[in-house]
Amino acid sequence: MTAVDFERRPKRRHAGENMQKPMVSSRAGALAGTARVPGDKSVSHRALMLGALAVGESVIEGLLEGEDVLCTAEAMRALGAEVERLGDGRWRLHGRGVGGLTEPEGVLDMGNSGTGVRLLMGLVATHPFTTFFTGDASLRSRPMKRVVEPLSRIGAGFVTRTGGRLPAAVIGTPMPRPITYELPVASAQVKSAILLAGLNTPGETTVIEREATRDHTELMLRNLGAAITVEHLPEGGRAIRLVGQPELTGRPVIVPADPSSAAFPAVAALAVPGSDVRLTGVGVNPLRTGLYQTLAEMSADIRFENGRTEAGEPVADLVVRFSALKGVDVPAERAPSMIDEYPILAVAAAFAEGKTRMFGLAELRVKESDRLAAMARGLAACGVNVEEDADTLVVHGTGKPPKGGATIAVNLDHRIAMAFLVLGMASEEPVAIDDARAIDTSFPAFPAMMNALGARIAAREG
Ligand code: S3P
Repeated sequence: MTAVDFERRPKRRHAGENMQKPMVSSRAGALAGTARVPGDKSVSHRALMLGALAVGESVIEGLLEGEDVLCTAEAMRALGAEVERLGDGRWRLHGRGVGGLTEPEGVLDMGNSGTGVRLLMGLVATHPFTTFFTGDASLRSRPMKRVVEPLSRIGAGFVTRTGGRLPAAVIGTPMPRPITYELPVASAQVKSAILLAGLNTPGETTVIEREATRDHTELMLRNLGAAITVEHLPEGGRAIRLVGQPELTGRPVIVPADPSSAAFPAVAALAVPGSDVRLTGVGVNPLRTGLYQTLAEMSADIRFENGRTEAGEPVADLVVRFSALKGVDVPAERAPSMIDEYPILAVAAAFAEGKTRMFGLAELRVKESDRLAAMARGLAACGVNVEEDADTLVVHGTGKPPKGGATIAVNLDHRIAMAFLVLGMASEEPVAIDDARAIDTSFPAFPAMMNALGARIAAREG
């Protein structure tokens, strides 16, 4: 097996293990310049997992080298794949073939990553061995029943903590049964877990989703040679059918810049007067761009230029200029296409004039933290008038910069951390976060990249 770059192994962030890293963001002058945000997190996880199953070599360009994805790289290695880092964002895998993974000797620590653990639970569910999973304090509190339930129908066994929490053991089945499963919640993670389990299952596995969720798994599987079809159902929704036990062939993967990470500099440019920023090569898969549609409705000056397709995924450059935003209603049906963007949308709404009402947000309560509560609490602490109920957030913008001047508890949630640092770039007083370490999960260069564009983010004494 090729040597691994141990320098880049994930840093563990279990509660109490390290010191917190407070950070503060102060009012910035106009943001200007061109930047490329890191690779898409969803695509990066899938590229490593499917590269480990493909026959032959898979070279990945633009892989996100954040902690979440590095945990997946380490897990694929523990499952028997050859995984090698060639250079910045450039990785090479030699896969084991569908059904060819081997039992890991230790516990797979998936860090902060819900996507990593849920997709891998699916993958190992149809391998005839037992896999143990754990994660950081945030991941250990998140619900796994949503994957345990369908994967049990396929024949896998599970031992979890009370409430379906990690740590968990997945007892893979040697005799998987193909299932047809309708998703009870709109979740690309659950859909993907079932499809990945279906890879080593004879016959046809079908997932029905009433609301379309990100389809990176489907696109990549097709690209690697699997027989996968998507039928638009007359009663609404889609049926995704995968024929099991395909031979997947290693192909090059180019990971687009992550639209969910681009959202932070984009909203910063909208909020800081005089800004004009270009973000290059951003993934614009229509199942990921709900935020950009919403911002356009809020009168944001955002243009998509130079549209093209790279390794099956649409990408474009985003040109974003300071804009006087207006409050809007964001319908519940849009939630799957912008599920990770509500924290930063709530910040945009705080700068807008008028009321922004966001509906259908129940899933935000089970993300890396309870994001609905975190945004409501943090915005209120920064002087913004907000209302929160079970699945709705209403932000009353005044069209003037919020007061700011608060320290926000991040609770191991990267998107809460970055959203409030963006707020601080254009609020009257600086905004601090108690711990910036979570940012390393998806966008390690965020403070440096924002400062290069003109932001004023600095470490703060604890
Ligand atoms: C993801 C799906 C979404 C999203 C997560 C990444 C994926 O989660 O929030 O950050 O890569 O499939 P859900 O499937 O739980 O909505």
